[in-house]
Amino acid sequence: MTKEIVESALSKVIYPGFQKDIASFGFVDKIEIDGADVNVEITITSSADEVSEELKKNIDLEVSKAGAEKVTVKVNKPAVPRETSSHGKNIAPVVKNFVMVSSGKGGVGKSTTSVNLAIALAMQGKKVGLLDADIYGPNIPRMLGVEGQRPEVVGNKVRPIQAYGIEMISMGSLMNDGEALIWRGSLIIKAIQQFLTDILWSELDVLVIDMPPGTGDAQLTLAQSVPVTAGVTVTTPQTVALDDAERSLSMFKKLNIPIAGIVENMSGFICPET
Ligand SMILES: Nc1ncnc2c1ncn2[C@@H]1O[C@H](COP(=O)(O)OP(=O)(O)OP(=O)(O)O)[C@@H](O)[C@H]1O
Ligand SMILES: [Mg+2]
Repeated sequence: MTKEIVESALSKVIYPGFQKDIASFGFVDKIEIDGADVNVEITITSSADEVSEELKKNIDLEVSKAGAEKVTVKVNKPAVPRETSSHGKNIAPVVKNFVMVSSGKGGVGKSTTSVNLAIALAMQGKKVGLLDADIYGPNIPRMLGVEGQRPEVVGNKVRPIQAYGIEMISMGSLMNDGEALIWRGSLIIKAIQQFLTDILWSELDVLVIDMPPGTGDAQLTLAQSVPVTAGVTVTTPQTVALDDAERSLSMFKKLNIPIAGIVENMSGFICPET
């Protein structure tokens, strides 16, 4: 056996679902020859077991046909994608990515972070939506300068408000100024679901979601209704805020939400009293 013979045999192994062979794809990492025994190592881009099994079988077949006695194949492949927060469910299929902005503690800058993140993503040319899921204290309309503006109702759906190149909806845009609603758990769940299903979002690259503080029904409902792509935790440097940030991070882990990072807000603030 020579390396050339093995290479020529491997160039007959077609990658499943394609017309090209594994050698042309550049998937062959290593060929080792010991007398009539051949070791082949490849790295592929699919994590599916069917693909690696078929490749192993066909490599064995072609290399044996070329004269090898014993063929050993090692396939390196990417890990199976992690389970999503909603087990694949997506009640807002027009949205590709959901970014959940959370904090354990209130008033640390979630809404400020959400607005800035959404606008920054839009400035990169992405199609961005901003969902103010803080139904107790909706602040986003004021931060975007659209307080008092009412969204257009189309049939039984609602068109989001446009501001700074992003689409936005908030309970604050649906209620009268200063009005407070007392939300029971079941109503929160319903409200969050309606924000995802009854709003006429465009085909969005990213929906940034400003959550109410803490780890409650809103967080759980959201995570179970859509596959949340990234969790961002906002905190301030105070020890109590950090304790709460840990709770927020542990919630992301429990809900299978990939943690994108922590924003330490107001870290440069020095209290003038000290
Ligand atoms: N980096 C910053 N510098 C100065 N002021 C800030 C900064 N970040 C936030 N603020 C101000 O702090 C206040 C609280 O911020 P924000 O509303 O974003 O927090 P939040 O976490 O969304 O609060 P809530 O829990 O009430 O929803 C706001 O008045 C905001 O303008
Ligand atoms: Mg807020």
